[in-house]
Amino acid sequence: MSSGHVPVLFAETIGVLKPQSGDVYVDLTAGRGGHATAVAQQLGPTGRVVLFDLDRGNLDYSGDRVRAATGIEPVPVHGSFASVARELDARGIVANLVLADLGFASSQVDDPARGLSFMREGPLDMRLDCSSGMTARDLIASSSERDLAELIARFGEEPLARKIAAKIAAVRAVAPIETTAQLADVVRDAYGSRAHTSRMHPATKTFQALRIAVNDEMGALDALLDSIHRAAQRIHDGRPSWLAPGARVAIIGFHSLEDRLVKQAFAAMRRDGLCNEITSGALVCSEAESAENPRARSAKLRAVMVDSPSRVA
Ligand SMILES: C[S@@+](CC[C@H](N)C(=O)[O-])C[C@H]1O[C@@H](n2cnc3c(N)ncnc32)[C@H](O)[C@@H]1O
Repeated sequence: MSSGHVPVLFAETIGVLKPQSGDVYVDLTAGRGGHATAVAQQLGPTGRVVLFDLDRGNLDYSGDRVRAATGIEPVPVHGSFASVARELDARGIVANLVLADLGFASSQVDDPARGLSFMREGPLDMRLDCSSGMTARDLIASSSERDLAELIARFGEEPLARKIAAKIAAVRAVAPIETTAQLADVVRDAYGSRAHTSRMHPATKTFQALRIAVNDEMGALDALLDSIHRAAQRIHDGRPSWLAPGARVAIIGFHSLEDRLVKQAFAAMRRDGLCNEITSGALVCSEAESAENPRARSAKLRAVMVDSPSRVA
């Protein structure tokens, strides 16, 4: 049965992590368990697996999949990877393989009830963790026009952000914007005749911006990168840390905002003498993968090894 998600840069990710028997693997975005299962299969009976996900359904699904394939009982953490240091420290777990495959799984975007896609009519929810936080509907209803314009410009890199925010404000003054289709129509209206010449659907960037804002995606990534930097610094200083010396950390980003943050954070660690880059620059998908899985086209994989120059292959 299909898991509902094809893991991107699959061989490349396994190639940079190089899982070995007995490793402790922390998958910060377990999703449908594609990467996690493949890594777990290399760990042998003494390996450990920790799975994080904001989405309870994905966390359970990936845990079942890892257990069925390997017999390893994963440690599930329902929450954001922003708190990885606290969660691992509380359990006394020290990781030597870490993966974050950012964003959302195909199964989430394909589910109309999640409200993540302008192609599928559904409520404007967009939360990856449906158990808490503000929905996109509430965000649209409660933000000023100016704040909406600013978030659409910032997280969507949308040149027409002000026009779109003005249109949203005009429409919601009459009746609340409740569904993905309503919002997609509002954005198309704001585009006017430009909608016909635009290469992508006019609502693409606005939906991306709202999803990033609803899930505080940039805040979580910032916090994660800070945790990795601090952990590497602790190793360097000979203090205990949630990362083991020589740990391999891989991050897959899907848009320029994510990739820029990862690139800058890894460069800062390298400058501070805390890591070596495993990937030189970012790895991107092959033409074959791009043809088979359109989602992979924007994926960029960067990986570092923390403070243990002798282990870099
Ligand atoms: C691209 S999918 C991961 C797919 C996975 N690598 C696989 O092979 O199936 C991203 C997953 O990360 C989760 N996620 C996104 N942001 C998160 C965060 N800040 N903390 C924990 N999980 C997060 C999403 O709910 C989603 O399930």
